Amino acid sequence: MNNSAPPLKLGICGLGTVASGLIELVTRDVSRVAECASRPLAITRIASRTPRPSIMPDSAEFIEDPFALIGDTEVDVVVELIGGVEPARSLIERALELGKPVVTANKEVLARHGDALFSLARARGLPIGFEASVGGGIPIIKALRESLGGDAISRIVGIVNGTTNFILSRMNEDGASFEDALAEAKSLGYAEAVPDYDIEGLDAAHKIAILASLAWGIPFDVEGVRTQGIVGIRLDDLAFAERLGYFVRHLGLAQRVEACIETQVFPALVPRSTLLAHVRGVTNAVQVTSHAVGSSLFIGPGAGALPTANSVLSDVLDIANNRAVPWDAGRAQRQDRNAGTDADSQSSSAYYLRAQVDDKTGVLARVTELLAGQGVGIDALLQPEIEAAPSKAPAAGASIVMITHKTAESNMREAVACIQAMPEIHGQVSLIRVFDGD
Ligand SMILES: NC(=O)c1ccc[n+]([C@@H]2O[C@H](COP(=O)([O-])OP(=O)(O)OC[C@H]3O[C@@H](n4cnc5c(N)ncnc54)[C@H](OP(=O)(O)O)[C@@H]3O)[C@@H](O)[C@H]2O)c1
Repeated sequence: MNNSAPPLKLGICGLGTVASGLIELVTRDVSRVAECASRPLAITRIASRTPRPSIMPDSAEFIEDPFALIGDTEVDVVVELIGGVEPARSLIERALELGKPVVTANKEVLARHGDALFSLARARGLPIGFEASVGGGIPIIKALRESLGGDAISRIVGIVNGTTNFILSRMNEDGASFEDALAEAKSLGYAEAVPDYDIEGLDAAHKIAILASLAWGIPFDVEGVRTQGIVGIRLDDLAFAERLGYFVRHLGLAQRVEACIETQVFPALVPRSTLLAHVRGVTNAVQVTSHAVGSSLFIGPGAGALPTANSVLSDVLDIANNRAVPWDAGRAQRQDRNAGTDADSQSSSAYYLRAQVDDKTGVLARVTELLAGQGVGIDALLQPEIEAAPSKAPAAGASIVMITHKTAESNMREAVACIQAMPEIHGQVSLIRVFDGD
């Protein structure tokens, strides 16, 4: 480091989990951080709603108004760690208008307003660092922009929301109910008090929209991500899936299907023989398939103060070292830049189906007949009450549990609608996609 160089003055908006981690990384091990930077780093201003004097660094002044921080001459780089759309979007816009580089961990503001914000940044010749916006501590953004920047990506699939993976893991491994696992996730600080963003899949959709935009140079299109959460996944589905050789995971998927980029978030049966199936708890994992490299898997902590702050710090160091990569790096070279997203793409898939039925002859035959009517074949069949019920399955009633052959989703849904209408069916028929990695 050049000690005589003027420090790079950081202004942090927000003083929550990630900001506290960043303060710790920048101030606790100053000499190690200094070795990575060509000039000293100094946190000079912090703006937030609520002061937290106990974690304020000596170098920083607290101000309430984040817009005042942005205009402050003692701030060279704006680090946005408030989250949500507003005031984050306006703050980033204002910082760029004033000629200040921005670092953010905010996936929602990028997924919804990334095109306008990056366009402004490009016009001003400024970087926006956003490594922390997907995968927390996993360096997936840099991997896509830089390491895989010249490769042709065909698919990105992964577990990009730690809360839903934690809930599914607790249900699968410990037999916890969905409600108990969610309550535990809240008590451990993994899930928000209002956890809809996680369990309804919106948080994962934001991340998939960012990854798809990076990988194929397409506009950010969070509305185009077909999004299904994990509400409605039952304990007995997890138990039956395991008996059939699968774990249930909540996946984010972006893939090229002919001329379109298909983006989805959905619960899926993942074969136990795959690495993704064994990603447990709050861990995140992103698997990228590309022409030259083949398959690469990025795995690690998807959240948490220090892992996420490390991603923020790496963006700050890039700015300090004048090596921040412009938004279009990697992205602009992608040949698929003009591909559109297709929310209704009909790529085929196998399905897990479970129905609670009257225990009488002819019901299974009728179910298979309705499936066959839509051209859906059966790959595996479980009749748990005959084979001895799995420990986590309900004891009462007869279940039909099956895995179908690959089929178009519209055919499968048509068949399930007919099955659901049968008088011998009790409750909701469970339908979960099987993701076999092909
Ligand atoms: N936490 C993680 O592990 C993680 C991982 C990856 C990415 N991220 C992203 O990082 C960002 C920050 O997350 P976080 O977990 O650190 O959030 P957080 O703990 O909720 O902190 C947000 C901070 O912003 C402040 N704030 C909220 N609205 C404000 C406003 N209108 N004006 C001024 N300050 C305001 C809050 O003040 P109060 O204290 O008064 O509420 C709080 O200090 C988000 O975009 C999040 O998605 C977080």
